[in-house]
Amino acid sequence: METLRNFIKFLEESLEEVKSKNLYRERLVIPDDFINFSSNDYLGLKDNQKTKEKLKENLEKLSLGSGASVLVSGYTQIQKDLEEFIANFKQTQSCIVVGSGYMANVGLIQAIVKEEDVIFSDELNHASIIDGIRLSKAKKVIYKHLDLNDLEEKIKKTSTRGIKYIITDGVFSMEGDIAPLDKLVEIVDKYDAVLIVDDAHGTGITGEGRGTLFHFSIKPKENIIQMGTLSKAVGSYGAFICGCNTLIDYLVNKMRSVIFTTGLSPIQNFISLENFKLLAEEDFRRFDVLKKAQYLYEKLNENGIDINFHNTPILSYVVKSEEKAIKIRNYLMENKIFVQAIRPPTVPQGTSRLRITLTYNNKYEDIDKLLSLIKNL
Ligand SMILES: Cc1ncc(COP(=O)(O)O)c(C=O)c1O
Repeated sequence: METLRNFIKFLEESLEEVKSKNLYRERLVIPDDFINFSSNDYLGLKDNQKTKEKLKENLEKLSLGSGASVLVSGYTQIQKDLEEFIANFKQTQSCIVVGSGYMANVGLIQAIVKEEDVIFSDELNHASIIDGIRLSKAKKVIYKHLDLNDLEEKIKKTSTRGIKYIITDGVFSMEGDIAPLDKLVEIVDKYDAVLIVDDAHGTGITGEGRGTLFHFSIKPKENIIQMGTLSKAVGSYGAFICGCNTLIDYLVNKMRSVIFTTGLSPIQNFISLENFKLLAEEDFRRFDVLKKAQYLYEKLNENGIDINFHNTPILSYVVKSEEKAIKIRNYLMENKIFVQAIRPPTVPQGTSRLRITLTYNNKYEDIDKLLSLIKNL
């Protein structure tokens, strides 16, 4: 009884603490009549009719679940087709599709990075990268956000018997800015390192949709690993890792979030493949969302609202205080607009914000409504 009381007390006190700091989180069901500016469905593919129709036509043929790990009997032709499509799209020899972006990063880093290696990681990299590094037990060196001088100085100062990895988001999830992969690849080559790019937010957006490597006209090669998720611009669920044949073969054999988990449902893989084809074919979706993002940025700027724009659909309106971010979110909700307040630990202390994301489905009149409400603040 004493243990149970202590356990519940610990939970209650922890919740009280987050509440007192304005860091309490709830899962909100966004009503259908709200305008949503907090979705990563940048290209508006998650509700598209073409894939829904195709799914209806093929439903009888598709199993509802995969039934096992991909190493037992859960690997299906549709997953193989999806992997081949992505490898071709990303111009790599091979690809593996896994359960989610979180599982991809955690599993990839833990599988390839050994204790004697060193990982150089941008300070604003996604939490799944940070967790993967923790699991790897390798030495971790954090460099300042996008600061290549800081990175190079730190590489020079760090000696290792093992392999040096540099890991970065392609498009940063909270800032919307783009990692300078051209310069990073120069550093990777100069110091004989391996580059891992998490292109969760770049896929479908940068490099004519092919991702951030392509934005810089970099040809994929053996010392570059591209990761991405199927849950954002692709509008589905799952993730992928692309690289050379040997890497993917190694991951099939060593990556714990491939081996010890059930394969994705064939229905989900079917959706991913059909949506990915649309992402590749329907360039107008990307042009449209980027035009809308630019429009929002220009209007905010005209109204003296300081916000950065990086030619991606992510615009962060940093208000610093958690309380203020929540107040603005609630005020927008009263007006049937949803922009989530993003607070620590998702972003660093003192940088709480409204993270506004544009999607193909947002209309100009929706953006104007958001603008007029922000102006009223
Ligand atoms: C940069 C980045 N990497 C990885 C992930 C995880 O992807 P997923 O949502 O598919 O788990 C996310 C988003 O959640 C992300 O923003």
